[in-house]
Amino acid sequence: MAELVIGQVISWAGDPFAEGPGAARLWSQGGVLIEGGHIAAVGAADSLRVAHPTARVTDYGSRLISAGFIDTHVHYPQTGIIASWGKRLIDWLNSYTFPEEMRFADPAYAAEIAARYLDLALAHGTTTMCSYCTIHTESVDAFFSAAEARGLRALAGKTCMDRNAPEGLRDTAQAAYDDSKRLLTRWHGRGRLSYVLTPRFAPTSTPGQLQALGALWAEHPDCLMQTHLSEQTDEIDWVLSLFEHARDYLDVYERHGLLGPNGVYGHAIHLTARERDRLAEMGAAVAHCPTSNTFIGSGLFDMAGLTRAGLRVGLGTDTGGGSSFSILRTMAAAYEVAQLRHTPLHPAQLWWLATQGSARALRIADKVGNIAPGMEADLVVIDLASTPAIAQRSTRATDFWEALFPTIMMGDDRAVTAVWVGGQPAARTASACA
Ligand code: GUN
Ligand code: ZN
Repeated sequence: MAELVIGQVISWAGDPFAEGPGAARLWSQGGVLIEGGHIAAVGAADSLRVAHPTARVTDYGSRLISAGFIDTHVHYPQTGIIASWGKRLIDWLNSYTFPEEMRFADPAYAAEIAARYLDLALAHGTTTMCSYCTIHTESVDAFFSAAEARGLRALAGKTCMDRNAPEGLRDTAQAAYDDSKRLLTRWHGRGRLSYVLTPRFAPTSTPGQLQALGALWAEHPDCLMQTHLSEQTDEIDWVLSLFEHARDYLDVYERHGLLGPNGVYGHAIHLTARERDRLAEMGAAVAHCPTSNTFIGSGLFDMAGLTRAGLRVGLGTDTGGGSSFSILRTMAAAYEVAQLRHTPLHPAQLWWLATQGSARALRIADKVGNIAPGMEADLVVIDLASTPAIAQRSTRATDFWEALFPTIMMGDDRAVTAVWVGGQPAARTASACA
């Protein structure tokens, strides 16, 4: 049966970085018609009601219906250690992250955290995520099984590390190649799932392992490849001491076959002009993780410079280096970081980054990230007056963007009234409420 979802509706006719806020299409009383899990039509609610009298109607009143949020960079295994105090990147990895990731050798623990993470993500309005797993193949199976059970479009891969990580959290070049290949064969293109080749970052891979994963990527160029790039200055110094012949951090990846148009590079804060231009020339994407970059003390991402250079940019929570599961909170942090660089972001740009921009970064913009005929029906329904503090500000608004911005800056999971996944309302589950 066709479903007709009614409310305020936002969709994209263009890119607000190129065209300004007019790139958004807004209906104050709009509707989204869903058939067979896909969007069949979007437009004025009244005309859709008349044209589709047998559709089942869900009326959200003045709530905002948007494409679901997309998280381009998250570590689901770090769910349990989010908000761990007082360290910078390398110490944070050694003190908190690696001991926790060790626990994913146990498939039951991996399944428990995968379910908990996905239910938290959905409760925060995130309908697609691109996650790192751990070195354990079980952690990948757990994630994809849990995503499949929820009908999600999701991307993930086994994190590969064969040095500078503790015993029990290292594989080898050959095992990284073999395991990644087996997992890719099992999961890539199964339903709504995609496998992503995932060398953690240059310091935790030998040249041999980077080379092996570069070779696997060359065999499967349609897969994404995700890794970290230039997050902290100490990390960059470490990379250059480990790879003496490299021109810069990005060059390490390029020399090992790990730079390409389907690459998604996390953080990318301290880039040289050469690195920025080379990423743009290759058509690569970057994941901006602002709550992480402030929480771990990494630095201020250059959104204006990178978008001007033509790079595709998406938003990432980077849970648990990031301090939130919420893409609303991530938009707020992106705004604050841009303010510190004196290059303010318009609410239209923030919302676009959270939906269409992130879909483009993950090369899935033909499937999700917008409300348009033919797209998969992944929706988030947002209450623009979810708390008294937000409500008292948004009622003064004189236009849509002014009404939306308090929710971007102050909203959290309380703003998420409902989430639709593949044309079905997603249930709120106990593990997200526990
Ligand atoms: N660099 C390498 N691994 C990680 C990680 O797990 N989180 C963050 N923020 N940076 C990393
Ligand atoms: Zn990360």
